[in-house]
Amino acid sequence: MKTVVISNQKGGVGKSTIATHLAMQAHSMNLKVLFVDFDIQGNSSKFLSSRFKGDKTFEQNSTYNLFSEASSDINSDVEFYLASGTSKLANISEENLQTWVNNHNFLSDHFDICIVDTPPTIGLPQIAPMLVCNYVLSPIELSAFSIDGATNMLKTLTNIKKNYNSKIEFLGLLPSRFNKNNNRQKTIYHDLTNKFSSYMYPNDMVVPERQAFADSSYLNLPIWEIKDHVAPKVSTKTRPVFLDIISKIVNK
Ligand SMILES: Nc1ncnc2c1ncn2[C@@H]1O[C@H](COP(=O)(O)OP(=O)(O)OP(=O)(O)O)[C@@H](O)[C@H]1O
Ligand SMILES: [Mg+2]
Repeated sequence: MKTVVISNQKGGVGKSTIATHLAMQAHSMNLKVLFVDFDIQGNSSKFLSSRFKGDKTFEQNSTYNLFSEASSDINSDVEFYLASGTSKLANISEENLQTWVNNHNFLSDHFDICIVDTPPTIGLPQIAPMLVCNYVLSPIELSAFSIDGATNMLKTLTNIKKNYNSKIEFLGLLPSRFNKNNNRQKTIYHDLTNKFSSYMYPNDMVVPERQAFADSSYLNLPIWEIKDHVAPKVSTKTRPVFLDIISKIVNK
């Protein structure tokens, strides 16, 4: 199993939207998906449990349980397993970390890909998944503080890589909610590319700001399952970004 953590300490940049779309993309490729939601807001969890309601190939438990009990009794005979973000996550401490690492190891024999959504606050729910992951992907908004945010993100990663998990690979800074008609955003995109060239996703590999994504959060459906006049067009342009990211992860 390959584990990818979706992380950015800034709120509202599209982490959960990207995490759920990556998970639905992987599921559509017949990969066995484990989704771990570390955010007590549980936005991704609500999306996924609603999307899979009544589906017998789907099972759900809470992320907190992965820190508090052995998961060897988990029914891994499902196509999609959701560990959901609940308020109990506030109770995890460093003492529970080894249980989490053991459970992640156990699950890695049973699933193809693990996608982790994280909260926008620094703390154990941000750090714990980084201890076991293979990849980190960082969605960024093109706003005034993006350069500072990206610099902090890279510092945190370097620190974790050096001290705790040398196998981490940074997939990059993925522009999210990008409005290419906005001159300020275009300037910030160029500034970021100049500063973090090797880490920035190219211009044609971004997630644009589109109503279809907001509708997706409301309907609990990935954009390619929304039946209206606009979403299919957005999907044709943007789904290849999710496909490319998943393909790279599983083929690496
Ligand atoms: N590309 C997009 N276009 C339009 N709206 C978007 C896009 N991505 C996300 N949104 C909307 O922006 C809001 C925040 O997105 P999301 O919850 O994915 O961000 P987040 O980074 O996970 O936030 P948090 O830090 O609070 O967890 C949601 O209402 C979502 O529907
Ligand atoms: Mg979120």
